[in-house]
Amino acid sequence: MNKEKFYITTPIYYPSDKLHIGHTYCTVAADAMARYKRLKGCDVMFLTGTDEHGLKIETVAKSKGVTPKEFLDNIVEGERGILDLWKLMNISNDRFIRTTDDYHYESIQKIFKKMYENGDIYKGKYKGKYCTPCESFWTESQLVDGKCPDCGRDVHDAEEEAYFFRLSKYADRVQDLLENTDFLQPKSRVNEMVNNFIKPGLDDLCVSRTSFNWGIPVDFDPDHVVYVWVDALFNYTTALGYMNDKYADFDKYWPADVHFVGKEIVRFHSIIWPAMLMSVDLPLPKCVYGHGWLVIDGGKMSKSKGNVVDPYVLAEKFGVDALRFFLMRTFPFGSDGNFSNELLIKTINMDLANDLGNLVSRTCAMVEKYFGGQLPADREADELDNNLIEMASALRDKYEADMEKYQFQDGLEDIFTVIGRANKYIDETMPWALAKDESKKARLATVLYNLLETVRICNTLLIPFMPDTADKIFDCIGACECCRTWENANVFGSLNECAKVNKGEALFPRLDVEKAIAELDAIKEAQKKAALPAIEVEPYTEENVDFDTFCKSDFRAVKIKNCEAVKKSDKLLRFTLDDGSGTDRTILSGIHKYYEPEQLIGKTAVAILNLPPRKMMGIESCGMLISAVHTEKGEEKLHLLLLDDAIPAGAKLC
Ligand code: ME8
Repeated sequence: MNKEKFYITTPIYYPSDKLHIGHTYCTVAADAMARYKRLKGCDVMFLTGTDEHGLKIETVAKSKGVTPKEFLDNIVEGERGILDLWKLMNISNDRFIRTTDDYHYESIQKIFKKMYENGDIYKGKYKGKYCTPCESFWTESQLVDGKCPDCGRDVHDAEEEAYFFRLSKYADRVQDLLENTDFLQPKSRVNEMVNNFIKPGLDDLCVSRTSFNWGIPVDFDPDHVVYVWVDALFNYTTALGYMNDKYADFDKYWPADVHFVGKEIVRFHSIIWPAMLMSVDLPLPKCVYGHGWLVIDGGKMSKSKGNVVDPYVLAEKFGVDALRFFLMRTFPFGSDGNFSNELLIKTINMDLANDLGNLVSRTCAMVEKYFGGQLPADREADELDNNLIEMASALRDKYEADMEKYQFQDGLEDIFTVIGRANKYIDETMPWALAKDESKKARLATVLYNLLETVRICNTLLIPFMPDTADKIFDCIGACECCRTWENANVFGSLNECAKVNKGEALFPRLDVEKAIAELDAIKEAQKKAALPAIEVEPYTEENVDFDTFCKSDFRAVKIKNCEAVKKSDKLLRFTLDDGSGTDRTILSGIHKYYEPEQLIGKTAVAILNLPPRKMMGIESCGMLISAVHTEKGEEKLHLLLLDDAIPAGAKLC
């Protein structure tokens, strides 16, 4: 029998910076979906990748003094890069596309030409407001308070000769698609697209650029590079072999069953993407799902705010499965969710340590304690069992209905309702009391078997979210391969009656909330510090000083005869100096933070003598000692300029 196919994609990520928890969220969701469909026996193609062209990448690479490709290779394939992150997070993608891959390049040139030849791309002149970070042109009316409607940053006037895609031609068909089919999910996103973008009138889309080079050239007009969104969107087809020989499964998997995308790129996926597919006469994806964002304190995560959450830190500290679980359990997929470390830690404690962890460890420990790890065959059922058995047996269908709607949070809620019910069943049946009575052994065995079965069913449905943990739990309850399947997830009683059970290690030790938060804060501080430049120097002065003016500055070698702290001042040191004139000179200097007075007595320093005298703390300072200053890892450093002691007091520095 032919397996049902399922093709799922994430957006391809911009490798202009490290990926954060928001990107991880979307990829984990797609992974959970892919694993769920595999569990159900589908033939799954799960694609993710990186979107590597455009001005932003060119600019960042330049600022780092490397070529775009060198920059990209490091951030995609280098240590702790994107591929490493997906490996760590146990992402089971079947394919990974980089838009700089040769086959993609070749396909995009052909696709562009095809749209040109069939009359949907034409040459014109583009005038508009351009947002460099988003690589988007906007019309005046689309701006929000004069700024880019996507990222809120400044836009500037730009004009260039360009190719245009006849987006306007497809407006009616796209509107119909959005309003009258289930193409765009959740439904709540449809109005925004239709009212904000289609009804005001869809302009043709500028699809080539001449102002930078880092992109795929239009093969019949190589001064132009293909607009990065055209290049990026078609990744979903080129990665299957559309218009290239690298892969040959386009016919098998296209159209995509679902594209998971963040809410800010729904516009590209639900308007531009179907229109371009109509233009090249390809079937449309069945669904674009626009998920919400993870926000911090209600606001966007951003490097400039310093609130970007690093998935590496969380996965390494709490475990990959705990992080995957938290992301899917806590936030409704279609809406924004407020991320916090506290929420993460509390969810781990409540759901994983308390509810799931306790159920598994108590159940297995009791089978070990009362029956040496193997239940006897004698059984005795009771009415008390019915509700648990009914709930566990009905779980798979309920969960399936939620998962088919991409409602991961609800799917997990279904599972945890049954887990909660099982914990209550332990309190109701009191196995420890049954164990005291030899005549209740059959009843005790039944209670424990029902618990093992409930664990098995819940655990099967947890596979998509916590694959490694699910394996461990199956091992604990002694589940053989055939009762780890979807088919048996609604058949209560599948587990071998005498399965060998072992308690294993605690799956999720309870966390001390305050301690864990303090540790995360400390890691964040250390990361911030490590990210600061090693050495920073003061900005250089642009303005020249003429030679005669410079020569008026009287720099001299001075001997430090005495040095003491100025009373009532944290900063000031009072220096008594021999400047070679025969009269002692007093200079105050705010360097107590860096030196103790006795370190400096007897040294030869440099002073400028002809500054106007200045009173500080009631003492007149006649001149200034010269120091070298710089910043190291964010901390200001100062070195008093000291000369060879052979240089006599009063020697002029010139
Ligand atoms: O948009 N919470 O790439 P990208 C949830 N290259 N999701 C978030 C998020 C957050 N805080 N921040 C970002 C691009 N994302 C294009 C895609 S597809 C043909 C081209 C999501 O790296 C964001 O919503 O800027 C988007 O879906 C994805 O990360 C990639 O963002």
